[in-house]
Amino acid sequence: MSESKLTPRHVAIIMDGNGRWAQLRGRERYYGHMQGVEPVRAAVRAAIRRGVRYLTLYAFSTENWQRSPDEVETLMGLLRQYLKSDLQELQKNNVRIRFIGERDMLAPDITAAMAKLEADTAGNDGLTLCVALSYGSRQEIVSAVKKAAALVKKGDLQAEDIDAKMFSEMLYTQAMPDPDLVIRTSGEQRVSNYLLWQIAYSELFFTKTLWPDFNKDELTAIINDFKTRERRYGKN
Ligand code: IPE
Ligand code: IPE
Ligand code: MG
Repeated sequence: MSESKLTPRHVAIIMDGNGRWAQLRGRERYYGHMQGVEPVRAAVRAAIRRGVRYLTLYAFSTENWQRSPDEVETLMGLLRQYLKSDLQELQKNNVRIRFIGERDMLAPDITAAMAKLEADTAGNDGLTLCVALSYGSRQEIVSAVKKAAALVKKGDLQAEDIDAKMFSEMLYTQAMPDPDLVIRTSGEQRVSNYLLWQIAYSELFFTKTLWPDFNKDELTAIINDFKTRERRYGKN
């Protein structure tokens, strides 16, 4: 696939608005979550077609554990299904999958399925699909600080040798480039504890579209908008 210099290498999406999409139709929130699965597949396919190398999707935040047990169970059920049903398509599309987040909060059958998917797709060198699951950026940063502190305590690292590059490698997103573009659906204009360190210089795009209505054409339009932006990184 042709990959222009201006194509975002890494796109990160905050998939928001499932509940409101359902409520607008007089349905329960779970219905919106169900309808939010197909746009995930569409986004993966469109990202591949557009030459994006990394796609990071915010599927469940650490704060989302505070939702009702019913809703959490619905989301975990959909996740279980996705992990089972989509392996073949991911393989066919040469997608490498990885997960970021607090795994110990997830059910053992889910973490086992995640580990298997990561292992089964480890040899693929197409799109990297990174799913943020039970993910919280502050928690990620704190755990990186703890890793660094433990190394210093052991004498394996000098405090003065810690720099931004090394710190990045201690985050869950280790070995991934920072997002070039962050998209949030549903009209909210906030980052909700997503990739706080990594988005220091990302371009942001907010769309009013509710996640279940998101599709490949909108992703393409947003990528085209991204291509017109001038990134300055503080320089003149
Ligand atoms: C996004 O939709 C999915 C998750 C956060 C898991 P929401 O469930 O947040 O939907 P709204 O924002 O309430 O409409
Ligand atoms: C952010 O959406 C988390 C995900 C999309 C998984 P939320 O709906 O949880 O965020 P807030 O509560 O509106 O900030
Ligand atoms: Mg929401």
